[in-house]
Amino acid sequence: MPQLTGKGGGVTTAVLPVAGLGTRFLPATKVVPKEMLPVAGRPLVQHAVEEAVAAGLERVVLVTAPGRDLALRHFEADPELEAALAARGRSRARTEIGALAALGSRLEAVEQAEPLGLGHAVGCATRSLGPGPCAVLLPDDLVLGPVPCLRQLLDVHERLGGTVLAVMELPAAEVGKFGVVVPGRDDGRVVEVRGLVEKPAPGTEPSRLAVVGRYVLSPAVCAALPGLTPGHGGELQLTDAIAATVGEAPVHAVRFEGRRFDCGSPAGMAAAGLAATLADPALRRAVAASVQELLADHRGNGDPA
Ligand code: G1P
Repeated sequence: MPQLTGKGGGVTTAVLPVAGLGTRFLPATKVVPKEMLPVAGRPLVQHAVEEAVAAGLERVVLVTAPGRDLALRHFEADPELEAALAARGRSRARTEIGALAALGSRLEAVEQAEPLGLGHAVGCATRSLGPGPCAVLLPDDLVLGPVPCLRQLLDVHERLGGTVLAVMELPAAEVGKFGVVVPGRDDGRVVEVRGLVEKPAPGTEPSRLAVVGRYVLSPAVCAALPGLTPGHGGELQLTDAIAATVGEAPVHAVRFEGRRFDCGSPAGMAAAGLAATLADPALRRAVAASVQELLADHRGNGDPA
């Protein structure tokens, strides 16, 4: 796989790890992989691929578990379906199906033979990408907002080079579920990263800046991935590969604009579905009324509503 060149400060390729088991969504994920669960009618993986393309990237590499090809199949051309939709006058659906195939032309897949951690998953893709920088999107983290989160990172990468991470400020009690930034200079939006700690123990958090699943990785990080040794939880951590490059190449964190949903959890997934639905003007009014009614049904059950 030769590295292409293009806009985005030399970043042309997005890596999407989609090899997770999705145990928190069983039994829904017994047959259907987690990345295929829908938010507002589109599977999670489609949201991430669309964000990468909207950010200006040319190519997307899915890192999949062995034998799991539904995500790739989702983006395959389906002329028979398109013809059937055309015959029924369903032109909008037909356009959407055609657009999927256009996205599919940018897609390829590599297998992660064993689930050894996020650093390992990303390394499975980058070892065949060549020496350039690349982007990583974790489809579990859905970010909704006017400017794609990855585009915001690429803008900073074009200015400052190196690695750029998306971060959000969280209460101390929550930050320990994430990679956490050891901050340096901070202009209120962009923060110099002096180190990173994966899921710090309570009381040891270096800041409240939690890493969200959007990254631009410098070539130095890609080069560090094959040498990773087990970190937090015995897994090969992307966080550790990035931390290893501090001092060698620039690393910055961006307080992105937008709202992040943890679609790795049922509650986050439900909130994301609601948010995406409310963002659709055609659905907002009807759904808002239902939400009010449903909350009223539960009033008095100890809920704050
Ligand atoms: C991964 C990363 C973590 C990051 C998080 C964002 O953790 O290891 O650094 O903060 O994604 O969602 P995971 O959620 O896979 O445990």
